[in-house]
Amino acid sequence: MAKVRFTETALRDAHQSLLATRMRTRDMVPIAEEMDKVGYFSIEAWGGATFDTCIRYLNEDPWERLRNLKSEFTRTPIQMLLRGQNLVGYKHYPDDVVTKFVEKSYENGVDIFRVFDALNDIRNMEKSIKVAKDQGAHVQGTISYTISPVHTLDDFVDLAKELEALDCDSVAIKDMAGLITPSAAYDLVSKLKDETDLLVDLHCHCTSGMTLISYYAACQAGVDILDTAISPLSWGTSQPPTESMVAALQGTPFDTGIDLKLLTHIKKYFEDIKERYATLLDPIAESIDTDVLLYQIPGGMLSNLISQLKEQNALDRYNDVLEEMPRVRKDMGYPPLVTPTSQIVGIQAVMNVLGGERYKTVSNEVKEYMKGNYGKPPAPVDKEISKKIIGDEEVITCRPADLLEPEFDKFKSEGMEKGFIKSDEDALTYALYPPIAPKFLKGEATEEELKAPSIVDEQIGIPTQYNVEVDGDVFEVKIMPTGFMEVEETEKGPFTPVEGGVFSSMQGMVIKLNVNVGDKVTEGSTIAVIEAMKMENDIQSEIEGVVKEIFVEPGDAVSAGDILMVIE
Ligand code: CO
Repeated sequence: MAKVRFTETALRDAHQSLLATRMRTRDMVPIAEEMDKVGYFSIEAWGGATFDTCIRYLNEDPWERLRNLKSEFTRTPIQMLLRGQNLVGYKHYPDDVVTKFVEKSYENGVDIFRVFDALNDIRNMEKSIKVAKDQGAHVQGTISYTISPVHTLDDFVDLAKELEALDCDSVAIKDMAGLITPSAAYDLVSKLKDETDLLVDLHCHCTSGMTLISYYAACQAGVDILDTAISPLSWGTSQPPTESMVAALQGTPFDTGIDLKLLTHIKKYFEDIKERYATLLDPIAESIDTDVLLYQIPGGMLSNLISQLKEQNALDRYNDVLEEMPRVRKDMGYPPLVTPTSQIVGIQAVMNVLGGERYKTVSNEVKEYMKGNYGKPPAPVDKEISKKIIGDEEVITCRPADLLEPEFDKFKSEGMEKGFIKSDEDALTYALYPPIAPKFLKGEATEEELKAPSIVDEQIGIPTQYNVEVDGDVFEVKIMPTGFMEVEETEKGPFTPVEGGVFSSMQGMVIKLNVNVGDKVTEGSTIAVIEAMKMENDIQSEIEGVVKEIFVEPGDAVSAGDILMVIE
């Protein structure tokens, strides 16, 4: 049997899982040469949440990071995680943006593209796969692994065959919450090896605690590649430790051939890095969370909620959210929980519980999902819930991106006119993140200082403020009564009643204002759009009236409780 090879995730998934994706390029470059000598199948170093974090928090150009790493990794292929038609964002982009992004990613240094879709809808992967193949890249198609009443091993194998038909070179089983059991890993890898000619990669997180056994079972079934992380950045919500897996397989038919001595210095290096980012490391992220076995949901997102609720002696809300997650997932046709569906489902569950009424507040992403714009859900969505969310609007059945107009040239010319775009790479950054990219591209962004994740204000009695984690970033969510509102002065002064005030219930960014001062609004009309928790949320007027004053403009950051406007 051929030896097993490893993909090292320290520079992407491991720090995304444990350190809120905050590792800087300057933390990566000094150790790259040593990592390059190990003999990994690949180094996963780009894509996923790294792109977003670079421009949002680190004031780093993600393209420059890629070029820097490429010049260091002369032997080991650089791998990226690409969310199919979502690229490195949270929504579908039109085909011209996808094409340009994949071309430029290859040109700047990506050798292996791991392409997935949260719904396992091949139509959302075919464009990026084709463009990457045209460039000459190695393309790894992906199965987003999940457990549900409608998912079978045969479905996953069928998907792999479709990926093979698109000329993929390998297939990854992407197990986001470590749900795959040793026997399921054995069966799935065996079937994939029997029924396709693809190299098979198993990518698991340790969340459930079963993963190392599953990895060994996968070896016995003939797996070709396993994803691991150097030990200081392993375990918990990250991958199994590289050194332990190397040692475990030594002297077996699956021996990796990796020299453990080469890993010693790399381990030491990342111990120091971990120390530097210690304040970002949530002890819960490092531990095993067996709740995922019962609820089949990734622990990472809820772990933060648990700790906040515990602090406030209010774990009763935790159970409500925990029980609501599978219900929302069922309503939505059992999507695998991975970016962006994990956010869409998770945040909807939080809103359903904290809002007092199910689907009273719905993000635009949930609306789009119900309209079919994310693709075909694994099972039909709940008809009544769908009706409550989108009414009688028609649900599309075509390939979602077929409905999107090209927009690369539009973003490019607009950015060039305004003077903040100098290259196609800049234009892509802008096209991917229109609300946050201009500040970065204009050089007005600053590097976030290292600090602990924000803590909710101390409250007495029932908590009304929660921290919710999305892709490793923590957002404040404040639950407020609707209608007549009170606003707290920032200097902790007395409460000032503001009649007709419209407030942000979330920490986020104003991305659109639909009204001007003097406009008449009707009850329920959308007056602004706020990007919060990486989802877009329509802000609706609770009353009929006239806009008297507006306190924000697009691009403004708002906190939970900030006043947006007054309607009388
Ligand atoms: Co992962």
